[in-house]
Amino acid sequence: MPHRGLAELSEPLAWAEPYRTKMVEAIPMTTREERKRFIAAAGYNPFRLRADQVSIDLLTDSGTAAMSDTQWSALMQGDESYAGSRSFARLQEAVAEVLGFPYVLPTHQGRAAENVLFHTLVQPGQIVPNNMHFDTTKAHVHNRRARPVNLVIPEGRDPQKPHPFKGNMDVDALEALLEKEGANVALVMLTVTCNNNGGQPVSMENIRSVSRVARRHGVPLFLDAARFAENAYFIKQREPGYRDVPLCDIVREMMGYADGCTMSAKKDGLVNIGGFVAFRDEELYRRASQFGILYEGFLTYGGLSGRDMEALAAGLREVLDEHYLAARTGQVRYLWEQLDALGIPLVTPVGGHGVYVDAGRFLPHFRHDDFPGWALSVALYEEAGVRACEIGTVLAGRNPETGEHDYPEQELLRLAIPRRVYSYRHMDVVAEGLRRVWQRREELPAYRFVYEPPVLRHFTATFAPEPIAAPASRSTHPAG
Ligand SMILES: Cc1ncc(COP(=O)(O)O)c(C=O)c1O
Repeated sequence: MPHRGLAELSEPLAWAEPYRTKMVEAIPMTTREERKRFIAAAGYNPFRLRADQVSIDLLTDSGTAAMSDTQWSALMQGDESYAGSRSFARLQEAVAEVLGFPYVLPTHQGRAAENVLFHTLVQPGQIVPNNMHFDTTKAHVHNRRARPVNLVIPEGRDPQKPHPFKGNMDVDALEALLEKEGANVALVMLTVTCNNNGGQPVSMENIRSVSRVARRHGVPLFLDAARFAENAYFIKQREPGYRDVPLCDIVREMMGYADGCTMSAKKDGLVNIGGFVAFRDEELYRRASQFGILYEGFLTYGGLSGRDMEALAAGLREVLDEHYLAARTGQVRYLWEQLDALGIPLVTPVGGHGVYVDAGRFLPHFRHDDFPGWALSVALYEEAGVRACEIGTVLAGRNPETGEHDYPEQELLRLAIPRRVYSYRHMDVVAEGLRRVWQRREELPAYRFVYEPPVLRHFTATFAPEPIAAPASRSTHPAG
């Protein structure tokens, strides 16, 4: 029998993925002993592993999707003209049709879109509120010498609290911030879905209210739209009044409340590289164009080749296929249900692009600076060859003013599931690997930095394991 979510569907055909395999890629098979050697040689940093040392790669859902035959054939249509590329026109049409924004600047990926937008709108000393900044967004706000503020609702800060839209922004807190600091707020952002607290969606009602408040204060609202389609699917599933609304209309309504968006197309663009920043207002687009040209490239290619733009134009339309989104969110839910049945603490409810293990509760004897999510990621790799990503203290980095760790509200391990890549059986392997780590959780070591880079440290840092010390000698910041 299929899992609970699928069993609810009356049409058996809806139990299966709405695509079949045309090409396969061999998965590297390794032994436990080899994996222990590989991760030690990588300085206990999963980002430093070679991909051929990893069997099931859940490090990220970013840029890891399998493209469709439609996208692969669109690649061949790429127009590589420097100026006025036909492929740019097709991308522009797709962005206008799917998202409703008439002006678009292609960029090489999402953080480049942030760079262009923030150079346009953010001045040193200003504030940028977001439901929860993704790490590159936060780093780019800091890069403009401005201050990122997270205003997610209290439920969104507690992994265990059930709420259908834990990505929502606290509208009263936004109102209070704008009352106090109005002129100093550069723009408001909403990340849909909210990556850092579990791929949790933002409701339409919340987007509407945030937009109303931002407009009243004359501050632009931009969506970080990396996972706009998954967010729209959750609105359809969970928000009263949207069950019978077509997904394309839900997306247009979401975007209709915003002045534009940044997009990492490596997620819901279903491509392996790409991004853009899109605008409703021509004047803002013109201002941003200067930075697009300076940092990315001419207006009609930005950081992308013509063929990249073709694949992205196709991906933006494909991602709104309801059968695809049912299969996509269904697979994530399948893994979530297996782990939940084992009693493993998870971010609840399940989010859109992965399962988030509550590492703080998995390892309640760890403190934040023992790096519980990191310890879990190393253990899961050693156990089952599965690579996952810490979303906790290591990723959060240091406060640039105090130099202290910027302790996050949650210590998580993210099992991000690439789109259209792995099967249900692969999910079984992940669940079994984590079950075995759960059984020996009291033996896991903490990790300490050997090399700590100053910016986006998680990518290149190296670590050493260290047995957990006696509670009294540990930091005063419990992670659980
Ligand atoms: C919500 C969100 N915004 C922005 C980004 C940055 O995008 P990119 O990795 O394409 O630079 C990411 C990447 O994971 C993300 O999840």
